[in-house]
Amino acid sequence: MSSKSFYFIEPLASHHDRTLFSSGNALLDTYLHQQVGQDQRRFATVAYVLLANDSQRIWGYYTLSALSIDLGDLPDGLAKRLPRYPSVPVTMLGRLAVDISVQKSGFGEFLLLDALNKCLTGADRIGSTGVIVDAIDDNARQFYLHFGFTSLKDRPDRLYLPTKTIAALFSQK
Ligand SMILES: CC(C)(COP(=O)(O)OP(=O)(O)OC[C@H]1O[C@@H](n2cnc3c(N)ncnc32)[C@H](O)[C@@H]1OP(=O)(O)O)[C@@H](O)C(=O)NCCC(=O)NCCS
Repeated sequence: MSSKSFYFIEPLASHHDRTLFSSGNALLDTYLHQQVGQDQRRFATVAYVLLANDSQRIWGYYTLSALSIDLGDLPDGLAKRLPRYPSVPVTMLGRLAVDISVQKSGFGEFLLLDALNKCLTGADRIGSTGVIVDAIDDNARQFYLHFGFTSLKDRPDRLYLPTKTIAALFSQK
C-alpha cells in the first residue's frame, strides 16, 4: 500500500482474499483463513474487512456478535448506571487484527472506531449496553485500555466500554 492508497471497510464476502493476511498472531490469522466463513454462514458472527484500492486483499478485520454478561461482573461504578437485571446485553468485538506489514499506521484505530460506530448504530435497533472485547494477550489489553475500555472485575483480559461513552465519543466528532 502507498500513501496514495485509499482504504475502506466492508462486510467480509467470498470474493475477498483471506489467504495472505498475517497479523503475527496465529490464532487470529487461522480464524480468518479457516473459520470465519463458516461462522458467518451460521450467523454466529459478522466480519468486516479493511481493503485498499481495487484489490481484494484483506489488510485488517474485526468481528461482531451478540452476547450477554452478568451485571455483577462489571465494575461497580459501571454496573450502577445500568438497570438491575441479572444479565445485560452487550455487543462482542470478538477479534480485531491488522496485517503486520501495516501495523502502527493507524489502521487498528480505524477498525476499532468503525466497529464502535457499528455497535452504536446497532444498539439503536437491538439494545446493547456496551462493547465487550477479549484481549488475546497483554499487548492487546493495553491497546483497548488506551481507548478507554475497563477490565471486568475478576477477568482482566475481558474489557467493556459503555454504549453511552461511545455515543458521547461520536457526538463530539
Ligand atoms: C493491536 C493492533 C490491532 C493495533 O493496531 P495498529 O494498527 O498497530 O495500531 P494503530 O496504529 O491504529 O494505533 C492507534 C493508537 O493505539 C495505540 N496502540 C497501538 N497498539 C497499542 C498497544 N499494544 N498498547 C497501547 N497502545 C497501543 C497507538 O500508540 C496509537 O495511539 P496514538 O493515536 O495515541 O498514537 C495490532 O497491533 C494487531 O493487529 N496486533 C495483533 C493482533 C492483536 O493483538 N489484536 C488485538 C485484539 S484481540
